[in-house]
Amino acid sequence: MSPRISQNQWDLDQVLPLGQPIEPQYFCTAPPGTVENFRKLLSRDVFSEADAQVLYDYLMDRQGDLSPEFLRMLGLWRSDELKHYEALRAGFTIVSHGLGLMNGSVVSRSRP
Ligand SMILES: [Fe+2]
Repeated sequence: MSPRISQNQWDLDQVLPLGQPIEPQYFCTAPPGTVENFRKLLSRDVFSEADAQVLYDYLMDRQGDLSPEFLRMLGLWRSDELKHYEALRAGFTIVSHGLGLMNGSVVSRSRP
């Protein structure tokens, strides 16, 4: 395989371990609007990364028109994009949880 198309070597669990905590103070001390805006940005990106599967399926329906090298690259690209999707989805969940903390969960949790 060409070195140009063999660069899909990263592991999501190493980049963003499952259960990776973000301390509540990061959310509570963020400038106004930062967390909400970041959540909106992530939500759009989650959908666009997931669209990779739709494009992959579309192209695979026409694979007879595509070169073997392109098809090899396409499989690597799809795997990479779906990892982006998983990572952004995890980030979106973390930020959404932080938004919940900002909206009162921290206070509720600290009450006896
Ligand atoms: Fe991507």
